[in-house]
Amino acid sequence: MLLLAALPAYDAFSTGQSACVACHRPHQVCQGACVSCHRGDDRTERKEIAHHDLVAGRFAHYHIEGSPVVERGKKLINGLACRRCHRYEKKGNPLAVSLDLTGVAGKARNIHHSIRDPALYMPDFHLNDIQIATLVNAILARGKFTSPPVNEIPIAIHFMESENIQGNVFTLHCGKCHKLLSEKFGGLGSSNAGPNLSGLFSGFYPWTYGNAEPWDTERLKKWLDNPLDINKNALMQPVRLKPGEREQLLQSFLPDRR
Ligand code: HEC
Ligand code: HEC
Ligand code: HEC
Ligand code: HEC
Repeated sequence: MLLLAALPAYDAFSTGQSACVACHRPHQVCQGACVSCHRGDDRTERKEIAHHDLVAGRFAHYHIEGSPVVERGKKLINGLACRRCHRYEKKGNPLAVSLDLTGVAGKARNIHHSIRDPALYMPDFHLNDIQIATLVNAILARGKFTSPPVNEIPIAIHFMESENIQGNVFTLHCGKCHKLLSEKFGGLGSSNAGPNLSGLFSGFYPWTYGNAEPWDTERLKKWLDNPLDINKNALMQPVRLKPGEREQLLQSFLPDRR
């Protein structure tokens, strides 16, 4: 190994071959050069330099068209309802950055990090590294095999300390147990004791009402009157709201139609 490392750096490069194969058995040869999937520098047999900015195998599946890993990642995006906040394959709510754009510009390691240590209003899905890697591949596949989305809907802006939040009905009555990304008022609530309610009425939220039905304004009202009527195992207590407060509450869940 030491001997290999001492060889002139341009040796393999000058013969038009990848120097990676000095240490690795080639694979996926008909899919292109090693560096097209793994990055790194294939002009040198010095590992430290060859591995500069290396992309690990588990993040490289998306380069292979029709990869089953990408398909699993897409199923996970559906199952975990990422689209209640993100757009992906041009479908979803624009409450957070579009994953179609992340797929074009993002780096595997950063995307992995964003899912493992999520931002303030993104839920922690408690996924293992294999699950996260499949999501990363599904997101990066958007940049690989599709043209970048044009006219992507601009993301709703989140205000941290807006006066809209002070005295907001959601903050007062729900925020000590729930979080919500609201198109009108930005990020509301401060606790993960109950589910993150972002995108509740959009159809992208998990269909958890009653017998696996989507949520709407009438169903939310019934739920607040008595959760036990809807789900006999519900832990949430009824929430009594003053006249007018209920209409104000619903505004936090509705899209901003300015
Ligand atoms: C001098 C020998 C050497 C060269 C040259 C070399 N590698 Fe490696 N590579 C290794 C060794 C040893 C490992 C095992 C892990 C480690 O020690 O970093 C490894 C690990 C890897 C891994 C696995 C990393 C992971 O975390 O999954 C990939 C992918 C890889 N190399 C790709 C490449 C590519 C692509 C090139 C050319 C641009 C290259 N290597 C050049 C020796 C080399
Ligand atoms: C079309 C994309 C693609 C190309 C081209 C490619 N690889 Fe890979 N590589 C992958 C994928 C996907 C994996 C993980 C699955 C697997 O092991 O097959 C991987 C895994 C590896 C691993 C094992 C790392 C690990 O995580 O265990 C090494 C080492 C590696 N590749 C080196 C190379 C070298 C050297 C070349 C060039 C001869 C190369 N690869 C070309 C996609 C590619
Ligand atoms: C409740 C809303 C919400 C849900 C659900 C959600 N996220 Fe997020 N996500 C966010 C917010 C907020 C950010 C921070 C960036 C922003 O404000 O747009 C973020 C950031 C990210 C980023 C970083 C993007 C970048 O370009 O920096 C990735 C990747 C990501 N989310 C993936 C996912 C995946 C995968 C899922 C589903 C498993 C998911 N998110 C579910 C709210 C959400
Ligand atoms: C004291 C804590 C608490 C408060 C306050 C609270 N909730 Fe909940 N909520 C929960 C918990 C815990 C759940 C999880 C489901 C269950 O077991 O009841 C829940 C579930 C829900 C659900 C069902 C979500 C799903 O996916 O099943 C909705 C909708 C909901 N709450 C709306 C609200 C709204 C709107 C308010 C304010 C008016 C509110 N909650 C106030 C604790 C609370």
